[in-house]
Amino acid sequence: MTDYLPLPGTPVNELDTPCIVVDLDIAEANIAKLQAAANEMGVDVRPHFKTTKSPYWARKQLAAGAIGICCAKVGEAEVMVEAGVPDVMITNQVIGASKITRMVALARAANLIVAVDDSSNVQQLSEIASAAGAELGVIVEINVGQDRCGVDGDGGVELARQIAASPGLRFDGLMGYEGHIVAERDYETRKTEAEKSMAVLLGAADQIRIAGIEVKVVSASGTGTYSITGRVDGVTELQCGSYIFMDGDYVDVFDDFAPALSVLATVVSRQREDLAVADLGLKSISIDRGFADVLSPTGATIIGHSEEHTKIELSSEAARALKVGDKVRVRPRHGDTTINLHEYYFGVRNGRLEAAIPIPGRGKFR
Ligand SMILES: Cc1ncc(COP(=O)(O)O)c(C=O)c1O
Repeated sequence: MTDYLPLPGTPVNELDTPCIVVDLDIAEANIAKLQAAANEMGVDVRPHFKTTKSPYWARKQLAAGAIGICCAKVGEAEVMVEAGVPDVMITNQVIGASKITRMVALARAANLIVAVDDSSNVQQLSEIASAAGAELGVIVEINVGQDRCGVDGDGGVELARQIAASPGLRFDGLMGYEGHIVAERDYETRKTEAEKSMAVLLGAADQIRIAGIEVKVVSASGTGTYSITGRVDGVTELQCGSYIFMDGDYVDVFDDFAPALSVLATVVSRQREDLAVADLGLKSISIDRGFADVLSPTGATIIGHSEEHTKIELSSEAARALKVGDKVRVRPRHGDTTINLHEYYFGVRNGRLEAAIPIPGRGKFR
């Protein structure tokens, strides 16, 4: 099996499709910008691997000054540890003996931290880690308004006590992801609600400290709230992920970071004057946040997908000039779920391929 990768130097418009294209200058500038903002706010950066799924980008984020990498799943953490990343935080609950055993194995090679919100899970983590002679860092997830996982603010103390007293476990602190508000378009609402969320998180940290337990880590934030949450006194680190590429959904939130990600497709059929069909289907772009925005040509709108096809309505003269074999470039509304469909990024600089960048974390959702 060969991946038929294009050679470095290939012009963007000659890349085989469908493929995801990253403008390397822009993504690198986004990494530098978040790190500089965090340095100025006095907070650490622990970028989320759920976006890039690629050690190539994690290395760049660490080289810029990140203290470690967040992962969503044990499978992602395995990719990170194999790539030599020394500090990995799993920002979700890891449930069941088989996953916990895999995670504990990673704790031999890296500082491994995991989120919890349940006492029986803490007990099983402790049993498996201590039997293996390993030490797992543990943070309690607090529900700061997203109503997904996480105990209420008052529930933190009990779990922190249990963790601190459990062999094989080290209580590190708290996390609270304000995911319900990160993509709010109105800045004032985003700020007010993010600050409310952080008040819940810091209130929980205070209660644990009053109980005599040290809280080292207070981890929070997504891309849309980095400059709000990062300024809240007591938050120690930011878990942003999307800032590196900025998908279509985030482009509508703010322009603090520039969009670096697009998907390139080829017109494969041209049967009607006002319609082009491209080779971009549901297997190569996600539509959970809506159809992608067409960047070029202008005057073209995606109106439907099937597994391997996209129907594009053509309303301008430039768009109607599209021929079979021409390229169409779009920006996905949701980057993370689109990237998860691909094996490589095509990293471009000055309009030419610099590197095909593997995505070994794709599909690692177990
Ligand atoms: C727990 C957690 N932390 C951080 C993030 C990063 O958010 P963003 O992609 O907005 O930067 C996510 C995104 O889903 C998340 O689930």
